[in-house]
Amino acid sequence: MVCFETEEKEENSSDASGGLISQDSPIAAQSGWLAELRTSGEFTGKLYEMTVLHRPEGVAAKRLVIVGGGKKEKFSGVEARRIGGVLVRALKPKGIRSLVLALEPSQAPWVLESAEGMVLGAWEADKYKSDPKKDEKRIDSFTIAVPGGNEKTLREAAERGRVIAEAQNLTRDLVNEPANKLNPAALVAAAKEVASGLGMMCEVLDQEAMAKLGMGALLGVAQGSDNPPYLIAIQYRPPVPYDGEHLALVGKGVTFDTGGISIKPSDGMEKMKYDMAGAAAVIGAMKAIGQLKPSITVTGYIATVENMVNGKAQRPGDIVKALSGKTIEVLNTDAEGRLILADALTYANRNGATHIVDAATLTGAISIALGHYNIGAFTNDEELMNRFLAASRAAGEKTWQMPMDEEYKEYLKSAFADLPNIGGRYGGSITAAWFLREFADPTPWVHLDIAGTAWLDDGKAWLSKGPSGVAVRSFVQLALDWSRH
Ligand code: BES
Ligand code: MN
Ligand code: ZN
Repeated sequence: MVCFETEEKEENSSDASGGLISQDSPIAAQSGWLAELRTSGEFTGKLYEMTVLHRPEGVAAKRLVIVGGGKKEKFSGVEARRIGGVLVRALKPKGIRSLVLALEPSQAPWVLESAEGMVLGAWEADKYKSDPKKDEKRIDSFTIAVPGGNEKTLREAAERGRVIAEAQNLTRDLVNEPANKLNPAALVAAAKEVASGLGMMCEVLDQEAMAKLGMGALLGVAQGSDNPPYLIAIQYRPPVPYDGEHLALVGKGVTFDTGGISIKPSDGMEKMKYDMAGAAAVIGAMKAIGQLKPSITVTGYIATVENMVNGKAQRPGDIVKALSGKTIEVLNTDAEGRLILADALTYANRNGATHIVDAATLTGAISIALGHYNIGAFTNDEELMNRFLAASRAAGEKTWQMPMDEEYKEYLKSAFADLPNIGGRYGGSITAAWFLREFADPTPWVHLDIAGTAWLDDGKAWLSKGPSGVAVRSFVQLALDWSRH
């Protein structure tokens, strides 16, 4: 049960519920314990504050947990989602198996987000921990109870929330896998499983097929690994095609990034298993899209390689020819994401994409610019950017638009090829975006740099540490909103 903070001015009011919750709360109306709790000062309604009552009068449940909603006027889907997560994460270790979230009628608009929050909160990065009690710390059933309202609408909202959050959890599962368990072939298997389960087409180009097409940029990165690369396409087609528009979601799937010959420092290198978070977000989004059936054709493209160092690895100074025909001087083998995406973007363009959004753990520089809270977004088309930003906001993800002035392009100059794969020391995430733009143009395109947001170093009260599954909800929302334009 979610209760809001008391207005200062109501401090001494004689309101029966102590001002904690609105008068329409059926639970509050049943007894005086809420008022008592309020007067005792034990519970103020501050955001995420929690109090447990055992067998309170008038309630059938063994325990009633009251959680603070903060200021009522500031309450939004973001808080609702987090409260769902906070509840699950606080109760899970206590051996509780079933949870009913009781909302007041006024909180009914947040059913979708509450459902999402509970499913997301239940996820843990503990797959490889052999804690024998793990299974006992799992909630088996979540229920959201809302008195009154339209049952069908409420059920649909809860169901949507579940579908989206489960898709996001699939993304987190994939990102959580270490690179010895998840290589490019394993990512192919995961994509195929999602596609076949939902009747979507899944096409996979292997090394030979890519060589025939001339994907020199992607293959140059892949040649340093014994694990072969793939380019995956999963396609969702709507029941009724919409205006011939075709959204492409493109993901960076580097299952491990050593940096190649321009090798990374060993400190923290283990985290480079998450360098396929963009690819995993595309797979997760396609799973939700296949279930929620938006009215636009969506193809998810996943470029997957391992950036390793064997005797055949590409060297700094190597010049490769991309599928688009442009030549690239590889000045740094650690700037591999843009190389594989270059060919994936060209491929998406050649296969009829009218709009492209890519997600990639592309640069460390984006964390320097934005920290760990905002996705950095870049575009060649303000209209698509605005659509994306609106979708991202509606889905409760934070995205910040980054500049793409022509001046930054000047940092990308090669003496020996059409372009180098790195710019200078400054504006690293912007030069990376400009590099991609050379392959996305002229199609409206948004690039998401999720290097700063795809991994949570510290857990939150509502979310486990580890993979965040960022971008999934924005992707799904963008596709669902399409018909409304
Ligand atoms: N995968 C990395 C980016 C990254 C860094 C992701 C930290 C997550 C956390 C990417 O391939 C990379 O190495 N980028 C280089 C680019 C540089 C060589 C121009 C970087 O950011 O240092
Ligand atoms: Mn790299
Ligand atoms: Zn990388």
